[in-house]
Amino acid sequence: MAELIVLRLVHVLGGIFWVGGGLYSTLFIVPALAKAGPAAGPIMAELMRRKLFTVLPVVALLTMLTGLRLLWIVSGGFGTDYFATTSGLTYAFSGGASIVGFLGAMFFARPAGVRLGALMPTLASLTGEARAKAETEAATLRNQNARWTAIAMGLLTVSAVGMAVARYL
Ligand code: HEM
Repeated sequence: MAELIVLRLVHVLGGIFWVGGGLYSTLFIVPALAKAGPAAGPIMAELMRRKLFTVLPVVALLTMLTGLRLLWIVSGGFGTDYFATTSGLTYAFSGGASIVGFLGAMFFARPAGVRLGALMPTLASLTGEARAKAETEAATLRNQNARWTAIAMGLLTVSAVGMAVARYL
């Protein structure tokens, strides 16, 4: 019982932080920084110094690990009977959606964002062909980051919706 309470606390609070933080950044912070242009540099640097890009993945991992442990407990060791219920299937499907979203964000969106963060400060010092090449690369990276972030956030939202309603199905 005590384990369940601790797991649920970490899981639900972690999920709130992960999905809420992701939506807030994607819908408001990233577009605002893009609009700010070079002025966004110091803010990005400060966000990095405060380890935002480490804290979010760690919280996501905690949410997934506690979710898997909860799934193990409530399904009696991943018993097939549990997954034959609509409720059990919804928890499993929703959990899977957030895990795929996490992998997409970590392996596709994040590397593009990190490379872009390193490229942007050097842009101003470049001229001519080198600058044009760097700008093309920046646009490609921005697109890759935006596409994978949108996919990941879509999957995380589906997951949160599923988690919210699963017990009533
Ligand atoms: C986007 C990430 C996630 C969010 C926002 C989230 C959110 C939640 C919430 C709010 C609940 C409580 C639902 C209720 O009591 O009615 C819950 C329960 C649950 N979650 Fe997640 N979750 C996430 C990811 C995962 C993952 C990755 C798994 C496992 C693969 C998982 C497995 C479970 C299970 C099995 C329960 C039911 C626990 C029980 O009945 O005590 N969740 N989740």
